[in-house]
Amino acid sequence: MAGTAGIKACLFDAYGTLFDVSAAARALSDELGPHWQPLADTWRAKQLNYSWLRSLMGAHADFWQVTADALDYALDERGIRNPGLRQRLLDLYFNLACFPEVPAMLRQLKSAGLVTGILSNGSPEMLEAACRSSGIADLIDHLISVEEVGIYKPDPRIYRLAMERLVLPAAAIAFHSSNGWDIHAGKRAGFFAIWINRSDQPPERLPNPPDVVVRSLGEVPVILGAVP
Ligand code: LAC
Repeated sequence: MAGTAGIKACLFDAYGTLFDVSAAARALSDELGPHWQPLADTWRAKQLNYSWLRSLMGAHADFWQVTADALDYALDERGIRNPGLRQRLLDLYFNLACFPEVPAMLRQLKSAGLVTGILSNGSPEMLEAACRSSGIADLIDHLISVEEVGIYKPDPRIYRLAMERLVLPAAAIAFHSSNGWDIHAGKRAGFFAIWINRSDQPPERLPNPPDVVVRSLGEVPVILGAVP
């Protein structure tokens, strides 16, 4: 496919792309009952909103703080006051599982000689824990956290940070994200942009649309010519 010939590195967003952000609330669905899905949705939406608002306000706090604040809002909205349950949800979020196709996909990319990395809002501690708990730590060459800059995606400085850390021009990097806004920002930075549109969402009305749209990360090795 045109545009992929010079790609040397594969960069991944973390939450929602490699790691299943609904898994924490789903794991406690017996206890949460019908609340689990709306709780998970509000938790995620507020987590992203708070990251953007804190960036605009010049009031950065790391993603673990933002994640806990968003959970507190979501629990409060549903009238759930249970400190033990809150702590278990946070522990589960710290040790998230990856989507099932992720380990094999990363192995294929690495076998083809491609460098792998994560570019995420997550704090370094969160990213290390999630890579460990999902068994992919050995398959990721670079963990790049926004904490190095102190502002959240989609600030352009974050995508430039990845180029600096990988020591590669944007055109040599394939960027993967399930978050539409993130993939548009990655494309704007010059990456080859692959949107992992897991739930068939409509395209974002933002500049710089992605190069490729797929339903699963399992399709990536073929797109990048990384299959024997
Ligand atoms: C991340 C957020 C966007 O991992 O999910 O950066």
